[in-house]
Amino acid sequence: MLHSSRSGVSRALVAAGILSLGIIGMSSGHAADEKIKVGLMLPATGTFAALGSAISNGFKQYVAENGGKLGGREVEYYTVDDESDPAKATENANKLIKRDKVDVLVGTVHSGVALAMAKVARDNKTLMIVPNAGADELTGPLCAPTLFRTSFTNWQPAYAMGKVAAEKGHKKVVTLTWKYAAGQQSIEGFKEAFEQAGGKVVKDMTLPFPNVEFQPFLTEIAALKPDAVFVFFAGAGAAKFVKDYAAAGLKSSIPLYATGFLTDGTLEAMGDAGKGLLTTLHYADGLDNKKDGAFRLNYAKTYKLQPDVYAVQGYDAAQLYQAGLAAAGGDATKQDVIIKAMESAKIDSPRGAFTLSKAHNPVQDIYLRQAEGTQNKLVSTPIKALADPARGCKM
Ligand code: PHB
Repeated sequence: MLHSSRSGVSRALVAAGILSLGIIGMSSGHAADEKIKVGLMLPATGTFAALGSAISNGFKQYVAENGGKLGGREVEYYTVDDESDPAKATENANKLIKRDKVDVLVGTVHSGVALAMAKVARDNKTLMIVPNAGADELTGPLCAPTLFRTSFTNWQPAYAMGKVAAEKGHKKVVTLTWKYAAGQQSIEGFKEAFEQAGGKVVKDMTLPFPNVEFQPFLTEIAALKPDAVFVFFAGAGAAKFVKDYAAAGLKSSIPLYATGFLTDGTLEAMGDAGKGLLTTLHYADGLDNKKDGAFRLNYAKTYKLQPDVYAVQGYDAAQLYQAGLAAAGGDATKQDVIIKAMESAKIDSPRGAFTLSKAHNPVQDIYLRQAEGTQNKLVSTPIKALADPARGCKM
């Protein structure tokens, strides 16, 4: 009798305990068994489709390596194909933020799409991590406590190539790119370093994104006879450009330089036309670091593909969020704690370890690479620990 009444009391105490744990769990914003909602807004179609897929692969690889969890919680993915179309960006971002109520928005590849996404994310106080788009504004005039980037600014790798081209003794350069933020800001970055070092950009040419009718521009380049050409192209359009450049007979007479987006993930499609191309980027094949070795092995095993810079940036987006969420004990609503931990994180990236600038952009080494077979082989490191100037960021 006595015994059973004591056990009745202890049952009541246990029940009260469970209840109060439940209340604590709720007040901290999540139940431990609730999944973290990750919104992946990336291109699955169009000229950047392969880039979106590599980012998603990289992100999921890190999560898998981390036991299928972020901040100790299982992960649920919500995805949207943004088609690299800025006109659909606001609606697409709203689907993930308002309809799906994601805890973090990860995206995207295209600078114009990312600029629109960032506005929606900021208005809704949603944490956003950019795993590619280089739009300088994101960590410049539009910088925000809730906005982070694990990739680059358009300025960063292009600035390094301006330095390299000048050091090679070129004086007169013609540029060509798609007419949108990434192309135009890459040209500006290149020009800044190239002209500081005494070179001159004699002509800037553009075509609308994602057009690939390059012939009239190749004819003009042949007539202008510059010392070298600098371009920004990426994805399927990049492969087409390099093949057209070679077919026009320009490859043997006028050196072609670019940021590494031209040749990352595209060398197989270029075939011989890509051979020997020199590019600058924050990743390369043949880096001598342990993290990269393990990352590449697991990527190849999981996806039966070789990773590229996009896969690395996706992987690091997951690492960065893990750093924040772990500090908050898995509670995605503790945004101040998450942000603080992300700001001070040192990311052990396959590209080499990096930290973030005050504007939330990687401070990173920029490598010079040369295309050999399907690899962008490390040649040298023209600029170490390059920080974007973050012009206009007040944070
Ligand atoms: C961009 O739009 O910012 C962009 C797109 C593709 C790249 C790099 C940058 O490979």
